[in-house]
Amino acid sequence: ARRADEEYDYLFKVVLIGDSGVGKSNLLSRFTRNEFCLESKSTIGVEFATRTLQSKLVVGEESVPLRLDSSFPPNLSGTLSSLQARIIHSGEDTMIGVEARTVKAQIWDTAGQERYRAITSAYYRGALGALLVYDVTKPTTFENVSRWLKELRDHADSNIVIMLIGNKTDLKHLRAVATEDAQSYAEKEGLAFIETSALEATNVEKAFQTILSEIY
Ligand code: GTP
Ligand code: MG
Repeated sequence: ARRADEEYDYLFKVVLIGDSGVGKSNLLSRFTRNEFCLESKSTIGVEFATRTLQSKLVVGEESVPLRLDSSFPPNLSGTLSSLQARIIHSGEDTMIGVEARTVKAQIWDTAGQERYRAITSAYYRGALGALLVYDVTKPTTFENVSRWLKELRDHADSNIVIMLIGNKTDLKHLRAVATEDAQSYAEKEGLAFIETSALEATNVEKAFQTILSEIY
């Protein structure tokens, strides 16, 4: 069945948090518009952007490639394993035509700087996921992760799915936070973890896909 891009089965609100300058707004623009800006300004207040995704489906134990019509965004790598598929018809080989569920991700972005922040309670209200970003070249932004976790625990729903993101991995010579340290911190705190580069578009898709699949 052909479906307009505006139609969706699920709407997930995800918030971006983390210190000023870690790259929250660029992760958002990379994911929703495939854009990056080297001279982006600090966010003031709240912005949000959406992207509608269509899941790669798992039928039984097997991951099934989809026969997509042109209204679907191509090349989605994530797997929303628990989404239910209705098999419309089976074709040759492993191709099975299915009607997939679409997920609309509504991603909110605010300032890392206290004085530009949005009203906290409204920002977190209804959020099912949080992407907590630090900059792998700036240890203070990693040290402040615990403060952001406290804010989440004070204001967000207790079931919110949290993903820790170490951004700017393209700046290899400036790295100051080791992957292993962040990984073990994430494990201790029960967070998902990934490193990204909004500049090089590394793992950005995967980060959003992973949190959306964990929400579901
Ligand atoms: P606030 O809105 O002030 O909270 O900051 P922010 O977290 O939204 O940071 P923003 O996305 O505006 O990025 C800050 C600076 O880092 C900009 O100059 C970006 O170009 C740069 N930047 C963001 N992501 C990356 C990245 O992956 N690699 C590199 N090298 N620079 C990045
Ligand atoms: Mg910003």
